[in-house]
Amino acid sequence: MKVVITGGGGFLGNQLARQLIKRGELTAPSGQVEAIDEILLFDTHLSDVAKAGLEEHSQTRWVTGDIADRDQVFSLIDRDDTSVFHLASMVSGECEVRFDDALSINLDGQRHLLEACRARSSTPRLVFTSSIAAFGGEIMPETVSDGTKRTPQTTYGVTKVIGELLINDYSRKGFIDGRSARLPTIIIRPGKPNTAASSFASGVLREPLAGQTCELPVDRSQLMPVLGYRDVIESFIALHEAAPDTLGDDRAYGLPSIQHSVAEMIESLEEVASSRDITLGEIVDKPDAVIQRIVATWPTATDGERAIKIGVPKPSTLMQIIDTYIDDFM
Ligand SMILES: NC(=O)c1ccc[n+]([C@@H]2O[C@H](COP(=O)([O-])OP(=O)(O)OC[C@H]3O[C@@H](n4cnc5c(N)ncnc54)[C@H](O)[C@@H]3O)[C@@H](O)[C@H]2O)c1
Repeated sequence: MKVVITGGGGFLGNQLARQLIKRGELTAPSGQVEAIDEILLFDTHLSDVAKAGLEEHSQTRWVTGDIADRDQVFSLIDRDDTSVFHLASMVSGECEVRFDDALSINLDGQRHLLEACRARSSTPRLVFTSSIAAFGGEIMPETVSDGTKRTPQTTYGVTKVIGELLINDYSRKGFIDGRSARLPTIIIRPGKPNTAASSFASGVLREPLAGQTCELPVDRSQLMPVLGYRDVIESFIALHEAAPDTLGDDRAYGLPSIQHSVAEMIESLEEVASSRDITLGEIVDKPDAVIQRIVATWPTATDGERAIKIGVPKPSTLMQIIDTYIDDFM
């Protein structure tokens, strides 16, 4: 079978490709577990870091392009025995400043992908990455669950809610077999910060670990629902593998998370660093009103019980996440 990962050059798409190579198989549209003979990474840009170590696996291919280009998207979905992990997206900060691009990439791009899957004579499984930015506003409770009304307060969040609803409807119609994973903030992103408003949640751990100064744009009391990157990759695979008859009519699953204040994240960091004899860089408070305003619209905890019931793993602890990052990336 073939696996297409859109956003395959990004943080999570790239880690997912590596995990799928190790795993070697998935449930194909036939309903049977099949060996993966092709993994196609699609992105606007695939850096040398994103390609490193993947070249030696003969099943890996990459294509650069724009998800908003319908013909190109159709050319990616060229086999009936295909599964798709749709991660390509403009992120929250960018969507606030580039409204038209946000609609074109996040909405039109997803529609092209859904239509390309619908055009096959099979029913491809498709995992879509949504976000807790799907929630927000005055009526939002502190802890959100799959039963919470989705009232996003950012353009990014609006595109994710529409994406979830489209996945539900294309699945109800039998055009695809879709599942959406609604992600909390994922830590720790390696490399450079991105333009997501939540980028500081990784930065406050990553930069000091690298001995660099971190400028913190939010108050240390800010609560964040976070999840480790290894857990989220396993969650994508678990959602993909869940049998269709175990899924409800709402195929959007909020992933579980752990809730911590930024101050608690810094405490755990200091504890791990001291146990590993790492000298940390400094953390400097530098409030940023734009980031604070976006982050304040997001929920501070998530209830992921519904996802856990269909096989999504329970979250690792903060200390485990920091330890794993040091092992994997430092
Ligand atoms: N990382 C998180 O904390 C988090 C939280 C909630 C939701 N998500 C969602 O998970 C997914 C993956 O997140 P990530 O952290 O890996 O983000 P990322 O920014 O590292 O990866 C997204 C990738 O999409 C690519 N992309 C953007 N526009 C494109 C286009 N027009 N055509 C093709 N590719 C394009 C980017 O180049 C990037 O490599 C995204 O959909 C994101 O919205 C992530």
